[in-house]
Amino acid sequence: MNCVDDFRLRFGQKELVPIVIGGMGVDISTAELALEAARLGGVGHISDAMVNTVADRRFNAKFVKDKLRQYKFNVSNSDKSVVRFDLGQLAEATRMHVGRTMEAKRGDGLIFVNCMEKLTMNAPRETLQVRMASALDAGVDGITLAAGLHLGSFALIEDHPRFRDAKLGIIVSSLRALQLFLRKTARCNRLPDYVVIEGPLAGGHLGFGMDWAQHDLATIFAEIQHHLQQEKLEIPLIPAGGIFTGSDAVSFLANGAAAVQVATRFTVSRECGLPADVKQHYFAATEDQIEVNQISPTGYPMRMLSTSPAIGDGIRPNCEAYGYLLDSNGNCAYINSYNREVAAHPGVKRISVKDKTCLCTQMRNFDCWTCGHYTYRLKDTSRRLADGSYQLLSAEHIFHDYQYSTDGKISPPPE
Ligand SMILES: Cc1cc2nc3c(=O)[nH]c(=O)nc-3n(C[C@H](O)[C@H](O)[C@H](O)COP(=O)(O)O)c2cc1C
Repeated sequence: MNCVDDFRLRFGQKELVPIVIGGMGVDISTAELALEAARLGGVGHISDAMVNTVADRRFNAKFVKDKLRQYKFNVSNSDKSVVRFDLGQLAEATRMHVGRTMEAKRGDGLIFVNCMEKLTMNAPRETLQVRMASALDAGVDGITLAAGLHLGSFALIEDHPRFRDAKLGIIVSSLRALQLFLRKTARCNRLPDYVVIEGPLAGGHLGFGMDWAQHDLATIFAEIQHHLQQEKLEIPLIPAGGIFTGSDAVSFLANGAAAVQVATRFTVSRECGLPADVKQHYFAATEDQIEVNQISPTGYPMRMLSTSPAIGDGIRPNCEAYGYLLDSNGNCAYINSYNREVAAHPGVKRISVKDKTCLCTQMRNFDCWTCGHYTYRLKDTSRRLADGSYQLLSAEHIFHDYQYSTDGKISPPPE
């Protein structure tokens, strides 16, 4: 057993290549990327983060424009509590994004949607319910619950006809989070079909405090595995975060992981949704440019390149158009920071906000360059071209490199 292809991820009778490409919000893990994972026999993720925005971009729809038109009167008001999502439109956008992806699926793999609880959208329960139910309506193979404890999420869809047939999983970063989830969802009489265990080296938001460096994936994985064995619960475990080579993956698979979830390596694939120039920043990144900071208004630490244009930017909150992070009272930590800086700098046209970022606008514009810890190693996965840029990779090449490589090797792309 020395390469990933010696192992299989089993869901009932179904056998898959044990490689899951993780969800990367606001269309970084595009349908094209997820479809490649499925075609190659693994699992791909799309994300429903800012789905109205994504559906507009993918299908030339007008969900964001319609919402902005409805709430335009409120743009200069610092109280955003009136800004609500139309649940019918949210359902339609989700069905478009998920449904069209599922229609295009080829091959034996699966496509899941990453569903983050922290996208509270000024009506956390209602919007989450619509997002999950619409994804199931649209035929998604599974839902990965992310960015939150999701203590009530199963209950929100337990009456859906696909509640027991779709694959439902959750991302946790500790045994405690998993125990809480299992306890709270016990009354739905359904275990998760898989648990992604995300360690502190992952990209995006982290399920740790600023003491993230004190934790490590292998230890958390072993704790959770031990606990489930004691409880006689057989739930496939999928470690994630910092698994950079096929051999890194094999070390988890050989210790009983059902699959691995990976993402950073795919940020420089052609199919990834980041703009081409941003992919070059990921390639060129050095270790000291990768930081974990607290500028996300969600309250979770987030890893990103220190060169991200989002850091320190003082753009006006755009909740009438977006507003995906408004809490149930219509607040967002960025609005408070922005208002404080405006008050402190009267008459200044372009203020700077250092402690928080307008994550909706910055993710929408690909100006918040969230990334995994090992982004600085991406340059070792490609080759430098005559003009100094790095060659983009195909998702297939990266997937196969994970699947077949041995001895910690990474094969460069064909010239
Ligand atoms: C650019 C980027 C964006 C991400 N966005 C999300 C997200 O929206 N939701 C989520 O649950 N995880 C997100 N992640 C985490 C990945 O899904 C994955 O679990 C993790 O990054 C795997 O570790 P690796 O990047 O070291 O391979 C993101 C990761 C990256 C690199």
